Amino acid sequence: MKAIYLTKYGKAAEAFEIRETAMPSAQADQVVIKVHSIGLNFADVVARRGLYPDAPKNPAILGYDVAGWVHAVGSNVTHVKEGDRVTALTRFGGYSEYVATLSYGVSKIDDTIAFEEATALSTQACTAYYSLCECVNLHPDDLVLIHAAAGGVGSIMTQIAKHKGCKVIGTASSRKLDYLKQNGVDQVIDYTVLDFQSAIEDRHGKKSVDYIFDSIGGKTFKKGMKLLKPSGKMITYGAAAQMQGNKSGTLRSIPVVLGFGIFSPLQMLMQSQAIIGVNMLRVGDHKPKVFNHVLNEVIKMTTAGIIKPRVSKTFTVDEFAEAHQYLEDRKSMGKVVVNW
Ligand SMILES: NC(=O)c1ccc[n+]([C@@H]2O[C@H](COP(=O)([O-])OP(=O)(O)OC[C@H]3O[C@@H](n4cnc5c(N)ncnc54)[C@H](OP(=O)(O)O)[C@@H]3O)[C@@H](O)[C@H]2O)c1
Repeated sequence: MKAIYLTKYGKAAEAFEIRETAMPSAQADQVVIKVHSIGLNFADVVARRGLYPDAPKNPAILGYDVAGWVHAVGSNVTHVKEGDRVTALTRFGGYSEYVATLSYGVSKIDDTIAFEEATALSTQACTAYYSLCECVNLHPDDLVLIHAAAGGVGSIMTQIAKHKGCKVIGTASSRKLDYLKQNGVDQVIDYTVLDFQSAIEDRHGKKSVDYIFDSIGGKTFKKGMKLLKPSGKMITYGAAAQMQGNKSGTLRSIPVVLGFGIFSPLQMLMQSQAIIGVNMLRVGDHKPKVFNHVLNEVIKMTTAGIIKPRVSKTFTVDEFAEAHQYLEDRKSMGKVVVNW
């Protein structure tokens, strides 16, 4: 079978090679999937640049999510069978024609969900659902700020928050504003031209936001903390800003860590606030049943039309580098997909 190997950290055009490799077999708790569609995530770009601590060492097969058909199941697997259409978290290895993955991250999808859409479910929609529905309890009319609201995770966060009756403020760069409105965002902020903190304070007052979902980090995180209402919660799940122009530091480097600022638990206690970190790989590693529950809830919400994954663009495997570049250049709105 063929797989796409990351052989060289750096530019998309020079990073990957398609190579022949051995077919995987299913261990007891695993499912082998024949891959139709590979989903890209922002973390793939970070890993390609050699800045993602969890990624395997080169030559590596990256890839967090795929959609396709079950090819084989291990002896302990009962919830899917050969031939089922599935979406799956692949925890690396997804850039392949066939991939073996742990069964907790595999779920059946019905015929109404296209494979391309399904690639948005296992990582991006699960991150959105876990952050909005497991970490906090949203109430109607809560004021919710979602950064990068046109992105794969951000667009689905918006759909879930609107379904819960929240008022959503969404930030994005200029060319994505119309999509934000179509997707239900109530206050659209172009953070390339407007200071989002001032724009929110002008409309809603100081310390007015109930929940913030931040994948940007750094100054954006610090400003967000100033907007948070007493009793508000900050959910931090990414550090996109720190990755920009950062050629040597990984997510654990000191400038990245300090870029978020320093906050005392006592301050949190006095204001009844919380900062909640989300890393879905850790959820999968340490709470696989919770991950599986989240994935099943995501599938139900998608079948019910509450989550509507948006496919930004579909590439072929021969265009793999272009797909990475498109995501890195911030051109995408929703999911970037590569089909075999
Ligand atoms: N913790 C977890 O478990 C977890 C899981 C999945 C994703 N994530 C994180 O969630 C974020 C979104 O992931 P995604 O896969 O859905 O990607 P995405 O949002 O579809 O793409 C990234 C978007 O982030 C925005 N952005 C803002 N500042 C940026 C910067 N300095 N450099 C690059 N992009 C910037 C861009 O949108 P604009 O053009 O609107 O600025 C860009 O299109 C990423 O930070 C990712 O690492 C975390």
